[in-house]
Amino acid sequence: MRHFTSVNDIPDLKKALEVAFDVKKNPFAYTHLGKNKTMVLIFFNSSLRTRLSTQKAAMNLGMNTMVLNVNEDGWQLESEMGVVMDGNKPEHLREAIPVIGSYCDIIGVRSFARFESREDDYNEKIINQFIDYAGVPIVSMEAATRHPLQSFADLMTIEELKTKALPKVVLTWAPHPRALPQAVPNSFVEWMVKAGMELVVTHPEGYELAPSFMGDLKPEYNQDRAFEGADFIYAKNWASYTSYGKILSKDMNWTVDARKMALTNRAKFMHCLPVRRNMIVTDEVIDSSDSVVIQEAANREWSAMAVLKMILEDNF
Ligand code: CP
Repeated sequence: MRHFTSVNDIPDLKKALEVAFDVKKNPFAYTHLGKNKTMVLIFFNSSLRTRLSTQKAAMNLGMNTMVLNVNEDGWQLESEMGVVMDGNKPEHLREAIPVIGSYCDIIGVRSFARFESREDDYNEKIINQFIDYAGVPIVSMEAATRHPLQSFADLMTIEELKTKALPKVVLTWAPHPRALPQAVPNSFVEWMVKAGMELVVTHPEGYELAPSFMGDLKPEYNQDRAFEGADFIYAKNWASYTSYGKILSKDMNWTVDARKMALTNRAKFMHCLPVRRNMIVTDEVIDSSDSVVIQEAANREWSAMAVLKMILEDNF
């Protein structure tokens, strides 16, 4: 594996899961792989989990790490080609990316959907420039349309907790005050389908995910019906794909609460965090013993470590 931006970069998902569970058991067994190697983590957007877990994963593998918060620490970076740079962005990605690449062996990039152009976001304009110009492997720490390190940790968590070979997994939209990208739900769908899970996606009309991610899956618009017999409930808000970037509903009837969880097969509650309590999920549900959000977040260290280990083994 050279770059990691989606589940499709992983040659063998079952083996990748084995690597993740191995590094979780033996976090310091592979420090030789990253000795004298450096990872730069670049954030165009805020982060708690991704920043700490990816940095920790790199350090577990013996790597040195440097973090750049572009909007706070560095120059504002222009991403459009052919523009007259007379605004507030004094440096172009075209120079910044190869310069960063010259200082390190792997780059992690977080660059969310900007909601200015669906075409630009879905063409992954920013992370693809890193792939084209960095000269070193690129790891997505959430791009415009996918959050693969999160989905890998989500799959690990489901594998750890499932009580049947192919559990029923429900991805449910839930209300939120701000317009959020589709990266987490897109990616979750992609990974669950690849892992062969029974997946149901439920949301209000107008929140259909991109056909390129849904494939043959049809959404269930009745949330109660979707929850019936579920083994895992994965809650997430996202803005509309069809009315791109718009909030069409803040319907609190979609909040995950104890009544809905009672329709499930004692489902585990999942969310990638950060979560808006009593918007996405009630206190009662997220504080219950069926909530696995902390285990899920903790697995981010191991999904990142598995990815970095595979890249180090394949490229150096
Ligand atoms: N789940 C996740 O990516 O969290 P952060 O945005 O805090 O990194």
